[in-house]
Amino acid sequence: MLKLGVNIDHVATLREARYRGRERGEPDPIAAARECEAAGAHGITVHLREDRRHIQDRDVWMLREIVRTRLNLEMANAPEIVEIALRLKPDIICLVPERRQEITTEGGLDVVAAERAIAETRRRMNDAGIEVSLFIAPDPEQVAAAARTGAQFIELHTGAYAEHFDDAARREAELDRLVRAARQAHELGLKVNAGHGLNYLNLPALHRVPHLVELNIGHSIVSRAVFVGLAQAVKEMLALMESYRG
Ligand code: PXP
Repeated sequence: MLKLGVNIDHVATLREARYRGRERGEPDPIAAARECEAAGAHGITVHLREDRRHIQDRDVWMLREIVRTRLNLEMANAPEIVEIALRLKPDIICLVPERRQEITTEGGLDVVAAERAIAETRRRMNDAGIEVSLFIAPDPEQVAAAARTGAQFIELHTGAYAEHFDDAARREAELDRLVRAARQAHELGLKVNAGHGLNYLNLPALHRVPHLVELNIGHSIVSRAVFVGLAQAVKEMLALMESYRG
């Protein structure tokens, strides 16, 4: 069964827009996590950014207490955040690139360029009982490097697929890249997640990508929640994932 991790960063984005610097405010990402889990989500994903633009430290500690499914911490391979993760002990971390000016995580991690540093963080996390995923573009060199680091998972960056969804030729080309990368990763013993830019329209065609374990989806679910509520938005996404056959 294809699993859904709901990225609740944007619940915190909305809170910070009004309550930055305060100890509490609405909407509350902790309540959002509870609601997603009750609606059937298989995991909760948050990105503790170095600039703390949405999720705050207190959020991740509360989430660690209340999440009953699986807590996935997206993070840069930066010393301060690595130390927090080692103490927090999420179930899994996903290493992502982070640039200050970006609106969201824009590209994949360059594992080829930073292989040694990533392998070292991978080792420290695994020693602490935390699984490791690497957020990478569907690029054969990045997949091969990810396997060499000893990571358990990759998360394939579906941003280019989502971006070009309305252009049939580009969409097919991006789907092909995702299919090939998923097969390669599977052959190398990596488990395969995917995410970024996925929504209710582009998800069905993604079923062509084999070996997927989990999708991490944030923006489209939180956006739909404005109109139908978070529980319904999660259930609708789960319904679209149900027919995935791997
Ligand atoms: N996966 C990763 C690694 C991400 O960085 C993000 C965005 O924070 C997502 C998934 C979710 O992307 P979206 O909000 O576009 O669904």
